[in-house]
Amino acid sequence: MDLTKPIQTVFLLLSFTGFVYPFLHPVVFVPGDGGNQLEAKLNKTDVVHYICQKTTTDYFNIWLNLELLVPLVIDCWIDNIKLTYDNATRTTRNQPGVDVRIPGFGGTESVEWIDPSHASTGSYFNNIADILVSLGYTRNVSIKGAPYDFRKGPNENQDYFIRLKKLIEDTYEENNQTSVMLIVHSMGGPMSLYFLNQQPQSWKDKYVKRLVALSGAWGGSIKALKVYAMGDDLGSYVLRPSVMRAEQISQPSTAYLLPSPLFWKPDEVLIQTQKKNFTLNNLHEFFDGISFSDGWEMKKDLAPFQASFKPPGVEVHCLYGNGVPTVERLYYKPGTWLDGTPTLINGDGDGTVNLRSLEGCQHWRSLQKQKVFLMPLPKIDHLTILRSNLTLQYIAELVKSDEPNFKEYITEGPHKRSWMDKFRFLKKESAQSKAPHWPDLLYVNDV
Ligand SMILES: *[C@@H]1O[C@H](CO)[C@@H](O)[C@H](O)[C@H]1NC(C)=O
Ligand SMILES: *[C@@H]1O[C@H](CO)[C@@H](O)[C@H](O)[C@H]1NC(C)=O
Ligand SMILES: *[C@@H]1O[C@H](CO)[C@@H](O)[C@H](O)[C@H]1NC(C)=O
Ligand SMILES: *[C@@H]1O[C@H](CO)[C@@H](O)[C@H](O)[C@H]1NC(C)=O
Ligand SMILES: *[C@@H]1O[C@H](CO)[C@@H](O)[C@H](O)[C@H]1NC(C)=O
Ligand SMILES: *[C@@H]1O[C@H](CO)[C@@H](O)[C@H](O)[C@H]1NC(C)=O
Repeated sequence: MDLTKPIQTVFLLLSFTGFVYPFLHPVVFVPGDGGNQLEAKLNKTDVVHYICQKTTTDYFNIWLNLELLVPLVIDCWIDNIKLTYDNATRTTRNQPGVDVRIPGFGGTESVEWIDPSHASTGSYFNNIADILVSLGYTRNVSIKGAPYDFRKGPNENQDYFIRLKKLIEDTYEENNQTSVMLIVHSMGGPMSLYFLNQQPQSWKDKYVKRLVALSGAWGGSIKALKVYAMGDDLGSYVLRPSVMRAEQISQPSTAYLLPSPLFWKPDEVLIQTQKKNFTLNNLHEFFDGISFSDGWEMKKDLAPFQASFKPPGVEVHCLYGNGVPTVERLYYKPGTWLDGTPTLINGDGDGTVNLRSLEGCQHWRSLQKQKVFLMPLPKIDHLTILRSNLTLQYIAELVKSDEPNFKEYITEGPHKRSWMDKFRFLKKESAQSKAPHWPDLLYVNDV
């Protein structure tokens, strides 16, 4: 019996009759590095330039506020947002007279928009929230945001994980005791993994439906080394990498995102110079070379967090771009040293994170009984994945697959269909609607 017809009928019925899905699993967003708003309040005695403000009466948006990222003003900005590391307490602190807070925990606003003015360049989880709302979700009720101080790593975000746990439990209760779907991006991947690894399996079984990870930076990225070497313009044309560097290297999260020893061999050449090559084996010499020993200290603090890569113990969907040139080695021309400008040698990845790191979830396939799905999205870069139709479609289909009316045809009954079949069906759907080619779905632990 060909089941395509009835499935299609149900699909069309559900899609076009304004049907509201009663069995929605509420969503909690966990952003990546730089993926939520930050606010600051100033009461400083010293500033780096006479044009810099010393005091403000209230908190203002400080993260990627384009007005603050112009020449001169950017120096004030860096002096307000950068952290100072204390190698005795192994913690960071804000500059004297600067108070930074994370607005909107629990709401969606501060993770949908990095820029509160809603400039399109500052949209983050907004497109995904929109698609969820179109499926019957409600912002702040069945979609929540879990922003955090992304400048810091998991070691300095321990209270965040406590709040995240409470948010997931509250969201479960608020939504008729329905388990939560975590949708995470980039560094939100390893942050969520760490969080899930801390929870008992019974808690996860009860509260977490699945983890949907977009561009998960599971094993870090060579790009973090590039940031230490020369800074990064965050994909913007207006920012000068060298100017951004001072702020970026002050963040322990940059050290957290260094290439992980679980993903890179100890003797793989990451940075090449005529005099000496740098690998994970002698990475501390690189930090000596750039005269930034704090960077190495932060790296040591975060190494245990990188080294733990236990499976999350929940159903996982990893969506990630590939086929986008992504730095995999820094090459300094003969006669130059680390104070020069390296040539970036590219490999495969999503433009920010190397492919081997993005594919990290495949290691859990044989290690957990919950299913692990990998979905490579050709030519979709690290941030575009947040607004790609392929991502939106995938999430929409996941939501729909939770509908008993719809799922029955696929996973129950005498003609039990696998997930693979379902997505073959989706492939047809997307071909009909002239959407971009639906890439092959790799799947595991199934049937
Ligand atoms: C600002 O800082 C000074 C000390 O530097 C302090 O005396 C003053 O009370 C602070 N003002 C506010 C509004 O916190
Ligand atoms: C810790 O910081 C102090 C002051 O900056 C410095 O003198 C010392 O060498 C640092 N220690 C390490 C282990 O980096
Ligand atoms: C969600 O809550 C935040 C603050 O709690 C509020 O500013 C925002 O308008 C709310 N959004 C919606 C759609 O209700
Ligand atoms: C809550 O869930 C139960 C079964 O899990 C269902 O019967 C009931 O209709 C749901 N209530 C609402 C308000 O969705
Ligand atoms: C650095 O690595 C390259 C490529 O692996 C190799 O050809 C070169 O000889 C190495 N240089 C040094 C100084 O070890
Ligand atoms: C994505 O979907 C929207 C709405 O269906 C459509 O307008 C847009 O053209 C699509 N984009 C691509 C690249 O297919």
